[in-house]
Amino acid sequence: MSFYEHWVLPPLLDLVMRQHQLGKYRQEVVAGARGRVLEIGVGSGLNLMLYEEHVDVVFGLDPSERLLSMAQRRAVEAGVPADLIRGSATNIPLENGSVDTIVMTWTLCSISDPLLALREMRRVLKPGGALLFVEHGLSPEPAIERWQHRLTPLWRHISGGCHLDRKVDDLIRGAGFEISELRNEYAPGPRLMTYMYEGRAMPTKSASRGALTKGA
Ligand SMILES: C[S@@+](CC[C@H](N)C(=O)[O-])C[C@H]1O[C@@H](n2cnc3c(N)ncnc32)[C@H](O)[C@@H]1O
Repeated sequence: MSFYEHWVLPPLLDLVMRQHQLGKYRQEVVAGARGRVLEIGVGSGLNLMLYEEHVDVVFGLDPSERLLSMAQRRAVEAGVPADLIRGSATNIPLENGSVDTIVMTWTLCSISDPLLALREMRRVLKPGGALLFVEHGLSPEPAIERWQHRLTPLWRHISGGCHLDRKVDDLIRGAGFEISELRNEYAPGPRLMTYMYEGRAMPTKSASRGALTKGA
């Protein structure tokens, strides 16, 4: 890990992700969480104070040690039962069918293999569990889309791997989920990075267990 990634990026991400206009999305997404919750890319823990009493425990997964230490402070302040885990969504260190809800806020853009990560999420979700998400991604406007494709190779080097041009709903469906709610809109800010995909998905019944079973 470079100096920039270890020392500069975590406080920068914390600052950027504290933007006021993201608050309403956080509240909407986190309000649906129940039971045993896995937060993918918990970052500096900005969602932790929003979990309500019907949440038993929040497993917060993130590869960044520095962001996890910020999240740890916020978990204590919020009084939320949290188990913060250093690791990647592409290899989630939890048992098959062991969580009721997965929460993911602006993380899929940064994961190197998003399909593998989503398949892992499907594996650890209980049948009937929910993936609650808000992500930025590919715009439906051709001119914006072109610029998103052009700028992503440069942008991801300075932003911790963030891709501007992922079609979030297609990725979620492609990993074996059915999307039951989806809202798309631009949030305030530059259109290249503010086209939001917010919604809820459930594991489809049809995907073969063999493809999802880990360590079997
Ligand atoms: C833009 S930040 C969002 C943080 C947090 N979800 C929030 O809403 O404030 C992206 C997060 O994804 C995390 N991340 C990057 N690659 C990841 C991976 N492979 N697995 C899990 N999290 C990852 C980063 O460390 C960072 O915390």
